[in-house]
Amino acid sequence: MPRKIIIDTDPGQDDAVAILLALASREELDVLGIVAVAGNVGLHHNANNALKIVELSGRVEVPVYAGCSRPLRRHLVTAEHVHGDTGLNGPDLPEPAKKLEAQHGVDYLIDTLMAAESKTITLCTLGPLTNIAMALIKQPAIADRIAEIVMMGGAYFEVGNITPAAEFNIYVDPEAADVVLRCGAPITVLPLDVTHQIQSTPPRLDAIKALGNKTGAAVHAMLTFSETFDLEKYGWDGAPLHDPTVIAYLLKPELFEGRHCNVAIETASELTVGMTVVDYWHVTGRVRNANYLRNGNAEGFFKLLTERLARLP
Ligand code: RIB
Ligand code: CA
Repeated sequence: MPRKIIIDTDPGQDDAVAILLALASREELDVLGIVAVAGNVGLHHNANNALKIVELSGRVEVPVYAGCSRPLRRHLVTAEHVHGDTGLNGPDLPEPAKKLEAQHGVDYLIDTLMAAESKTITLCTLGPLTNIAMALIKQPAIADRIAEIVMMGGAYFEVGNITPAAEFNIYVDPEAADVVLRCGAPITVLPLDVTHQIQSTPPRLDAIKALGNKTGAAVHAMLTFSETFDLEKYGWDGAPLHDPTVIAYLLKPELFEGRHCNVAIETASELTVGMTVVDYWHVTGRVRNANYLRNGNAEGFFKLLTERLARLP
């Protein structure tokens, strides 16, 4: 029986690869819907990019919703410097014929979780947590009905990427991350500690391009665009590939390793706002609210990703 998932996302090239990986894995994953959130770029582009990606995959039956256009409290911080002005620079994907659903993404999350059998839907979050937090605030009853939240976000051993202390998804909406981390639902975190081990080196990108399908060409164009900033910044052989690790965790959890511990969010200090304070060594008695992953198997990840992308048009 495929696992029912909803993907909350701010596409973003790495979000796009995550969505393609999920849509290519029909035996294991039933993608109920995709909800866009403001993050990498503004909501309009993120939602439009999600439509483009669904059309690229051929899975045009999957509904796409627009969620929140700004964080709960703070002004929106975006990342055009990484993702380009459209958020999906690199490939030349056609404007989508597919339209957004009329319902607001937050209401879609609430209605779907309230209507489904409890603990049967997993939320995969690839961007700021604004939509999830808004849904929890509007309908707190969903907290007990979510099977698991698997989120890309945060950092501890690798420290921050948008500031020295904070990872981008958490930094954009730290208040939302705080609401989600306190909600009581089972949470698994794919932080920079993992994604910095998952590097899109030239041989790995070449293998994706060598697939010879439209998807492989588009993913190669996406990642060779979005890697520029990180290659310059880190000087590594490949840029970290963040969001697809969320989907890979659902498909092959054995690729990853970590432990249950407390993860708390800094929301007050100007210096460290958005930091995920991870009690990895259990030095406090704080509730162990998250399965915090620290290591990932890059070879196994790229083998999985490449073979799944081969399934798409
Ligand atoms: O810090 C990496 C995260 O920020 C990824 O989700 C990327 O898409 C950006 O949203
Ligand atoms: Ca993202």
